Amino acid sequence: MTTAVDTRLSIAAHRDFPGNLLDGAMPNGDSGVLIASGLSDFSGALMAAERDNSEVLLAFTPTVPDVLELLIQSRKSRPDMGLVVAIPGPANGSLGEALVAGAHEIVILPAERTVVAAAVQKAMARVSTAAKIEATTDTRCPLVVVLGPKGGVGKTTVATNLATTLAAKGHRTLLVDIDLQFGDVGLVLGIQPDRTIHDLVTAQGHLDGERLRGFVSQTVDGVDVLLAPARPDQADAVTAEKLTAVLDTARAEYDVVIVDTPPAFTSTTITAIDHAQHVVMVGTLDLPGLKNMKVGLETLALMGFDRDRIVTVLNRADSKVGLIAHDVKKILAASPDINVPSDRSVPRSLNATRAIIASEPKAAPAKALRALGERVAAAIFKPDEKGG
Ligand SMILES: Nc1ncnc2c1ncn2[C@@H]1O[C@H](COP(=O)(O)OP(=O)(O)OP(=O)(O)O)[C@@H](O)[C@H]1O
Ligand SMILES: [Mg+2]
Repeated sequence: MTTAVDTRLSIAAHRDFPGNLLDGAMPNGDSGVLIASGLSDFSGALMAAERDNSEVLLAFTPTVPDVLELLIQSRKSRPDMGLVVAIPGPANGSLGEALVAGAHEIVILPAERTVVAAAVQKAMARVSTAAKIEATTDTRCPLVVVLGPKGGVGKTTVATNLATTLAAKGHRTLLVDIDLQFGDVGLVLGIQPDRTIHDLVTAQGHLDGERLRGFVSQTVDGVDVLLAPARPDQADAVTAEKLTAVLDTARAEYDVVIVDTPPAFTSTTITAIDHAQHVVMVGTLDLPGLKNMKVGLETLALMGFDRDRIVTVLNRADSKVGLIAHDVKKILAASPDINVPSDRSVPRSLNATRAIIASEPKAAPAKALRALGERVAAAIFKPDEKGG
């Protein structure tokens, strides 16, 4: 351990924040924190942080909605500044929303000033790790996260077929299932859950490429897979920090890493998005499906994820629910990049326990899913890199 230099901190409090809670929680000069700017209100907070060259901003907010704009503006103007949100408990508003908007740490008040100071240090550690990852990004392979903010829209179908298409093109491909409670990639691809991501992160010793490979399984079609935990109660062991280590290691070992996710923006899903170069957003052709897809795209925009790094997939695109291309375009503000038709060959591929692009390559969904693979490959592999 090296001796850390004090973390430069700016503090802001919303005008409606209860003053009695501030007194006990305000960090002082001890515990490795240097107060670079004292208390300002939210409107002056970013200017003060900029002026005083602060590394972390601590925001005392009465509710989650009150702090969202500050978080978003801060991520935009100073993406490398740590953000800590301190909020009276029980929190008024969804804490997940604060995380999505860019908070690195959340402290529920009342809390001791040492707890608040520890959160400041953690936020600082997070941004500097992120900066290190960024700096080494070019030596690591691309990571693609498959998202769909609703259950059953076809995320796993898309992720397994995308991984199989890329492997068939000759790329060393790892598929990681982070649907930590109900992941079914193993079931879909016919792999026994002998070794899982839970076993990997709870194993003794240092995590490196060799260790990772010891916990990876292979499909008959040449995809390496890191399975979700065998039991839902094992999910908690796979923390955001552990997942970061796994994804980092994987990105040094493979040509491409594909991540299948649960139907929610969990903290592990957000971690995966933080490490992703591209996202495949899956939705279905019905009103709730499209609305969820729209919310998902808006959430990614809030997280600062550029639209040109997102491929949209409309699954079951021929469903007869009276929605036409025009309606879809209106809701999503653009036509989906890939349309996958509804077809019995998809559930049939479950019986074959292979991706449909391998078990029924001529079926209409297989063609669409291969086109998706080609599109993603073109986006993530530059012409001068390994082309497949
Ligand atoms: N285009 C399609 N045509 C017919 N059936 C499909 C199609 N896409 C997916 N399915 C079926 O719908 C079910 C759900 O698909 P899948 O498991 O890929 O969704 P998911 O988004 O991963 O679900 P979850 O949120 O539960 O993880 C599966 O039984 C799958 O075979
Ligand atoms: Mg799934």
